Amino acid sequence: MLQIQENVSLINFNTFGIDVSAKYFVEIGHEDELVELFMDPQWLQMERLVLGGGSNMLLVKDFDGLVVRINIRGIDHRINHNEVFVEAGAGEVWNDLVNFCVAREYAGIENLSLIPGSVGASPIQNIGAYGVELKDVFYSCHAFEIATDTFRTFTNEDCRFGYRDSIFKNELKEKYIITSVKFKLSLIPNLNLKYGAIEQELVNRGISNPTIKDVSQVVSHIRVSKLPDPSTIGNAGSFFKNPIITKDQFEQVYSKFPEVVNYPAGDGLVKLAAGWLIEQCGWKGKVVGHTGTWKNQALVLVNHGGATGEEVYSFSSQIIDSVYSKFGVLLEREVNIIN
Ligand code: FAD
Ligand code: EPU
Repeated sequence: MLQIQENVSLINFNTFGIDVSAKYFVEIGHEDELVELFMDPQWLQMERLVLGGGSNMLLVKDFDGLVVRINIRGIDHRINHNEVFVEAGAGEVWNDLVNFCVAREYAGIENLSLIPGSVGASPIQNIGAYGVELKDVFYSCHAFEIATDTFRTFTNEDCRFGYRDSIFKNELKEKYIITSVKFKLSLIPNLNLKYGAIEQELVNRGISNPTIKDVSQVVSHIRVSKLPDPSTIGNAGSFFKNPIITKDQFEQVYSKFPEVVNYPAGDGLVKLAAGWLIEQCGWKGKVVGHTGTWKNQALVLVNHGGATGEEVYSFSSQIIDSVYSKFGVLLEREVNIIN
């Protein structure tokens, strides 16, 4: 039986720790409950917010609609020769899934260790870290179309994954609720160690022949050293995307700032390290009211306690303006702004 609660505080449902409330709130533990919920025109017509772990959103004000928290659980796995298909409910904690796979030596997902949030949100922005993106291991997902009360399976190609991007942030924005995700992993590890910091940490540990578990532990160690733990300091990871610019734009930046941190991004494009741009504008570790940037990673905006969503949002606008006036590069927010 669905339980719709009224006036629920969201402070413990978003990793920024923003204290706002939802007019209505429902937790979904099974696919059938979505069908039941949206058969009722009252909920179908209401403004809604689908919530996983709340680790990639900034809640700017009280939400005057229905928050649908996805808590569908379960992990299944099937081995076929050297391939492993793992299917997880959208409400599973992402890192629990990673640990499930690493413990069984199912390879491919280890570089994505310790990313906060739920399995169901992982395709939305094609989560990525340390040289691997979700699209490298994603096989398919099952999703509920709200308008038609029906389910559909999306293949990897259907999702049109890009850097921090997918069809669910574009044409199909807010149209589907992902209920489970299937991953294709391997029993034969093909370790991805090209991210410099991984190699360095393996050397520091004297590991020359790393296992999947070693990679997972090294990635977790690097993450803990750089990123604030949301259980002690509110944040949503990188607040902005790393900007991708044309070669011509890049030449202009490079001619004035030859030390600019950059990576080739294919098709004559160049990706810049947003953290570097923000640091060069003097923002790294700055505290502004209740908010600021993280002392070890300028790309991460934090809540030092008691920040409002508006305060963080307007601080992020200040950063965008100053990066633009110094470098002529426009930063785009990576975090979902809910207002
Ligand atoms: P939420 O914040 O709950 O939701 C995010 C978006 O997805 C919202 O638009 C929401 O409506 C939608 N959504 C959520 N669940 C569903 C669903 N089942 N169906 C349809 N839509 C849904 N991200 C990276 O890519 N790489 C990183 O390295 C990384 N590091 C981070 C480090 C820290 C400390 C933090 C706090 C965040 C980091 N993130 C990173 C961002 C975040 O962890 C990911 O974006 C994660 O996938 C968000 O999951 P969530 O369940 O918390 O999503
Ligand atoms: N840098 C600075 N100053 C800073 C931060 C970074 O100069 O304050 C420069 C350094 O040169 C550093 C480079 O930027 O070498 C890259 O920094 P880092 O390795 O920390 O990665 P990032 O580009 O800042 C991206 C993702 C992270 C992901 C890491 C590791 C985006 C928007 N962010 O950060 O994802 O964990 O790479 O792969 O692409 C997230 O999405 O929330 C997130 C944390």
